Amino acid sequence: MIKRIGILTSGGDCSGLNAVIESVVKTANENGIEVYGFKMGYDGLYSNDYMVLDSKNTDLIGEKGGSILGNSNKTNLFNYITVQSDGSIKKIDVHEKALENLKKDEIDAMVIVGGDGSMTSARDFMRAGVNVVCVPKTIDNDVPSTDQSFGYATAVDRIRDALRAIRTTGESHNRIMILEVMGRGAGWLALEGGLSACADAILIPEIEYDIVKLREFLIERYKKGEKSTILCVSEGAKPRGGEITAQINHKYPDSVKLGGVGALLAKELEDLVAPVTGQEVRSTNLAYIQRGGDTNSFDIVLGYKYGSSAVRAILDNEFGKMVSLRGNKIKLVDLVDVVGDGPTGETSKGGRHNVTQDSDLLIAAKAMGIYFGD
Ligand code: F6P
Repeated sequence: MIKRIGILTSGGDCSGLNAVIESVVKTANENGIEVYGFKMGYDGLYSNDYMVLDSKNTDLIGEKGGSILGNSNKTNLFNYITVQSDGSIKKIDVHEKALENLKKDEIDAMVIVGGDGSMTSARDFMRAGVNVVCVPKTIDNDVPSTDQSFGYATAVDRIRDALRAIRTTGESHNRIMILEVMGRGAGWLALEGGLSACADAILIPEIEYDIVKLREFLIERYKKGEKSTILCVSEGAKPRGGEITAQINHKYPDSVKLGGVGALLAKELEDLVAPVTGQEVRSTNLAYIQRGGDTNSFDIVLGYKYGSSAVRAILDNEFGKMVSLRGNKIKLVDLVDVVGDGPTGETSKGGRHNVTQDSDLLIAAKAMGIYFGD
């Protein structure tokens, strides 16, 4: 008999988190279940920092960006990062503290809202005996076993708006304009955002670009009278045989922090193209604008569907699952099929949902004449 459940929002924030929370609370309360919201992701579970959620404090929060519970992408309680006095990093397992809190608070099940890293921890808590159900969150849309994570559709809208704005200023100055977007190792955001605004070229991690061919493409366009070119570039895009642009920060469970390829590429392309066409190259990094602000209708509704389905899974004793969108239906999939069955505490080895040559989006973009740098 389920009397009380907990919910936490973990990893980077995105649009739709509050919609999931609102729907979990409404569905649970209607079934006589109380909901505790743990703050700042897994940190709240560790420090037992929670708020009791009800229809009053969650009513109509669905459209607001961010999460009323807060987010953290720094915490893996099975591999907890501590900074020693000499500045070195030590990882320790502190998950028992969270188990004690869950017992003390009499939490019967947890809804974990997060991406692959957060869901790997959820799997580890499941192994430790906690009843978990997960909801796939990320603007990157890289979680396997679901067609779409919530947050992605709103981020695509932001990219489209930015590209349309960049096009008019680029055309006024006859410039080559680069928009760098997020996505980690998956190119969905650049691909769908770029296609929706008819970018002239899209660079994604799945297709390494050839700088010589890219130069030729830009010069050819100029010669044909296209004085401005718009490129939508994934943060994870890399040159053929080259490296991604990233910084390493060991204070995060995911120590690789991507970003900066747009600015590097702008410099490189200006050196290569300007001597022929005289064009300047400018780069804009859309960064956190993709994650913040109001949520679009698709993500609000997907968040409501995911939240209510997660509670229904709990009522049906379907634990160790992730709610997933398949076609137009919400299904339950095994968490281990999403994040793999690797060692406790280690980052997911479950694979990533990536763009492939037979992805409909890629086929459509190529049919529209968009160039992929290869
Ligand atoms: O995974 C979501 C995401 O927004 C990525 O697209 C991006 O690389 C990363 O998070 C940025 O994370 P942070 O909030 O730590 O800068």
